[in-house]
Amino acid sequence: MKRNIKELVSQMTLEEKAGMCSGLDFWHLKSVERLGIPSVMVSDGPHGLRKQDEKADHLGINDSIKAVCFPPAVLSACSFDRDLMYEFGDAIGKEAQANDLSVVLGPAVNIKRSPLCGRNFEYYSEDPYLAGEIAAAFINGVQKHHVGTSIKHFAANNQEFNRMSCSSNVDERTLREIYFPAFETAVKKAKPYTVMCSYNQINGTFASENPWLLTDVLRDEWGFDGYVMSDWGAVNERVPGLKAGLELEMPSSNGIYDKEIVEAVKDGSLDEKILDQAVERILNIVFKYTDHREEQEFTLEADHKLAKKIAEESMVLLKNDSVLPLNETENIAFIGEFAKKPRFQGGGSSHINSYRVSNVLEAVPQNASITYAKGFSAKDDIYDEALAKEAIELAKAADKVVIFAGLPDSFESEGYDRAHMQLPECQNRLIHEILAVQSEVIIVLHNGSPVELPWLSSVKGILEAYLGGQAVGEAVADILFGKTCPCGKLAETFPYKLSDNPSYLSFGDGINVTYQEGIFVGYRYYDTKEMPVAFPFGYGLSYTSFAYSNLRTDKTRFTDHDTITVSVDVTNTGSRKGKEIIQLYISDRTGSIRRPLRELKGYEKILLHPGESKTVQFTLDYRSFAWYNTEINDWYAASGDYEIQIGASSRDIRLTENLRLSTQKRLPLKVHGNTTLGELLADERTSEYAMNFKKQLENIFGTSSGNNENEDIAISDEMNFAMIASMPLRNVVSYGLCSKATLIDMIDQINQKSDL
Ligand code: BGC
Repeated sequence: MKRNIKELVSQMTLEEKAGMCSGLDFWHLKSVERLGIPSVMVSDGPHGLRKQDEKADHLGINDSIKAVCFPPAVLSACSFDRDLMYEFGDAIGKEAQANDLSVVLGPAVNIKRSPLCGRNFEYYSEDPYLAGEIAAAFINGVQKHHVGTSIKHFAANNQEFNRMSCSSNVDERTLREIYFPAFETAVKKAKPYTVMCSYNQINGTFASENPWLLTDVLRDEWGFDGYVMSDWGAVNERVPGLKAGLELEMPSSNGIYDKEIVEAVKDGSLDEKILDQAVERILNIVFKYTDHREEQEFTLEADHKLAKKIAEESMVLLKNDSVLPLNETENIAFIGEFAKKPRFQGGGSSHINSYRVSNVLEAVPQNASITYAKGFSAKDDIYDEALAKEAIELAKAADKVVIFAGLPDSFESEGYDRAHMQLPECQNRLIHEILAVQSEVIIVLHNGSPVELPWLSSVKGILEAYLGGQAVGEAVADILFGKTCPCGKLAETFPYKLSDNPSYLSFGDGINVTYQEGIFVGYRYYDTKEMPVAFPFGYGLSYTSFAYSNLRTDKTRFTDHDTITVSVDVTNTGSRKGKEIIQLYISDRTGSIRRPLRELKGYEKILLHPGESKTVQFTLDYRSFAWYNTEINDWYAASGDYEIQIGASSRDIRLTENLRLSTQKRLPLKVHGNTTLGELLADERTSEYAMNFKKQLENIFGTSSGNNENEDIAISDEMNFAMIASMPLRNVVSYGLCSKATLIDMIDQINQKSDL
């Protein structure tokens, strides 16, 4: 059905239009019955429906309908699997249609700047490429059912402390390279129906009233054509917000801001066309949904199975000194209350009322020989002598021990940040005590963000289960007992300690938070610094092994408009079927600007049977090599060499290949008296001017004519050149190479060249 939305808007009164720009209540948009505009519902969230029928809140306090809790983003991102994320989105879209939800409030793609952010469990990664790819696949899955998504929280919302007022002070290059691309990729590849702007300010302007963010970048540059809604209560000033591109205020301000809009139109301070356009954008999406209502069949049970599949394809095996998989003939002790009461989701607005939760004790194979001791509570950090004693006795008697450790709910949640990066002390203490009596120890972790691992070198196995969703128990049991071959890889680095993290000195600062580490976030920092880490980005073990060979590219030289195909062969060299995640990183070797040592620009996940080989292909373009240059407000990659690195993690690069770029893009050059001779020599547009001076200076300083055999010579040619290169142009006058007037003429002449 083709609707004429413009015509519809023209029939609305000013009050009706202003009313359309804020919610009816916590979860609904308003209706205009006389014009056939229905009221539609929106609801959290990214890993399951939190549809509240009765008492509403945005903090996950009151109950919502029973639904399937899929693995939160912290885990699903570790799947590195676009198809799986599409399937995940497809299930959420179906559930949303069946429950009459027009928009699902997710996915959340904020970058994990620090392990301390209380909401990291809702976010995908420290890497914007991965977060963008995962989000786009998820959105495409949901929206296939004409249910919208609301990608959030746009933008630079990376901490919970003061989240509604703080200003994320970030330079533009960093925003463009780190904090924006997940949104950009999703907008370009999946066209989310809506975007949710964040609570915080960016460089002193609230995201909810930032025209550069909401209009220039989001719409004009990226082509977003849905509507922007505010995070719940994120509106600071309504009329400036509307002008900036914030169409919908959520939930509502009891009509107060609607009135301000009406008054602003009446007194001429707001052009009514802006209001009309906002209403049009909202109604487009409302009808996109209501015109495509469809019968949906889904069962919670089938979705529970999918939740299990996502969990087991995402959990990360971090360590395995020949201790896993477990065997049904072994006597195994399970220790820790998480074995009975797994922590499988985080607190806050994404909290799902799970219709059932599986624990690992119930999910182990029937004939497995398991004993269990609580050891410690999953809720707090209190060392209990009696519980510990019982656990140690059990551990002593067992062949192997699996300790289920993790963060209690209160340690991380929406609304506040973590105070430190440690597990509860009582857990670390008991792990050490068990290690004193038992060498075969495996740790299963239930946490929403990295933790310090003080016993890392002493345990034999670690399975990172993160927050596994409601089917966590089955997924963990199947991996532990080898029914499933682990195939997830870390979407974030595990530093050894919190103070290693690049944001350590500024994270959580008062109202103004300076992102002083710039683009060096996550592995971009650790790898460039060559800093030892507990586990690197992209890392994860398998029960089988893989060999990489035959890296090739379809060209070795390329220009701005080329695409490059990179191929590599991967073989399963182990004895069981398994999946491998192959990562492609690019390392800029041009030396033209400081950049991270490597950046992820492609990944693929493939299934291989023992002995089987497959060829994996990646496509790269100019943007894959580029950084954001604020001088030209565009992406730029300098001419020169770039290394393609194929790895099993960011620290396990298996194959490399060199490519040479010759770009047609020229950076603007404004020559003045303090431009150095080196800068002029390095630029083909100006090198001829500088060459003459260079020669004359060499005559003055004396050179060895390239034949420097005299050890006594105090200044080598290299030293000579370095000194000349760092000389400002004005010095040629003081060295008597030309007059000041001649130099000024020459500078004018250079600056007038059209290609500068
Ligand atoms: C959260 C959003 C959420 C909204 C509605 C806010 O507090 O930041 O992510 O979608 O509440 O529950």
